[in-house]
Amino acid sequence: MLDFWKLVGVSLVFLTQIFSTVAFTNPIKTKDGSDPFMVYHEGYYYLTTTTWSNIQITRATTVGGLKTATPKVVWTDSTASRCCNMWAPEIHWIDNAWYIYYTAGVSANSNDQHIHALKGSSNIIWDSTWSYASRITIPNRDVWSIDATVLIVGSSRYLVFSSFDGSDQCLWIAKMNSATSVGNAVLISRPTYSWETETAAVNEGPAAIYHGGRTWIVFSASACWGSGYALGSLELTGSDPLSASSWTKYNKAIFSSANGCPGHNGFFLSPSGNQTHMVYHASSGVPAVCNGSRYTLVQQVGWHSDGSPNLGSPRALSDNVPEPV
Ligand SMILES: *[C@@H]1O[C@H](CO)[C@@H](O)[C@H](O)[C@H]1NC(C)=O
Ligand SMILES: *[C@@H]1O[C@H](CO)[C@@H](O)[C@H](O)[C@H]1NC(C)=O
Repeated sequence: MLDFWKLVGVSLVFLTQIFSTVAFTNPIKTKDGSDPFMVYHEGYYYLTTTTWSNIQITRATTVGGLKTATPKVVWTDSTASRCCNMWAPEIHWIDNAWYIYYTAGVSANSNDQHIHALKGSSNIIWDSTWSYASRITIPNRDVWSIDATVLIVGSSRYLVFSSFDGSDQCLWIAKMNSATSVGNAVLISRPTYSWETETAAVNEGPAAIYHGGRTWIVFSASACWGSGYALGSLELTGSDPLSASSWTKYNKAIFSSANGCPGHNGFFLSPSGNQTHMVYHASSGVPAVCNGSRYTLVQQVGWHSDGSPNLGSPRALSDNVPEPV
């Protein structure tokens, strides 16, 4: 009997070890889990989130491993105009270098937020030291701008970000002339549906997703402090991304929950490149909050029969979520 139970114990430890390499449970982060972005590169997942005071990167060989990996602070800044309120960092490979695009502003408030870029010194994210590259100045509207992401269409790159038009927080697009310089911005999405205007009229946190030759921008809609924060989508249905009429908004939210108000997501490819996964944040209750108490969560993206992204519903925290393959 003793040997039997010993065997069971050893087997359980062994099975738990095996299991942790094929599945994980959410959340991936319970503190400072806001505005998450992930990328997989050469054997590692890299995760970065909003901490407000600096930019941190965590890496691990599995998604589950990110839960216990130690974040590395890769950027702090004492320059008054961009010292503080560091939001929504994203890591992108542009013209043979890694760049981190992020939002930052002054310490007193978040009324002077602008988009900035850091450049990495190495072609391995973790090995890089990061130097300040530039503020991304938008020629026709050098105003409050946040949540920049990079969209690729053909051989061109575009910066998509969120900024006000009147009292509406909208999505804008500008062509990238280089990693740090863009052309004039064009408004491509204004919050108008009821699911985009719950508590406040907001479109923010854009993230590009590609499938079967088609291109979408998924974005966060409504107030992050309300009960309706959710994800919506725009598809590039015309040929010129710089024309508002080229973008078609789906009339309903594509990812939402009565519980936790999921929002601000990023997409990343699995190690084989065959699967698309999503990282997003959610509050632990309703109404949602906009602070560092938000969780980071990960789950796979599927596809509807019409080819469009099927984000499903937020998976329960008790679910064993398969590791990407
Ligand atoms: C990825 O997809 C390609 C094409 O369908 C397939 O040949 C390959 O085996 C897949 N790789 C994995 C790891 O699933
Ligand atoms: C986040 O905001 C909520 C509601 O205002 C508050 O109760 C909570 O303490 C805040 N948490 C953090 C980490 O700031």
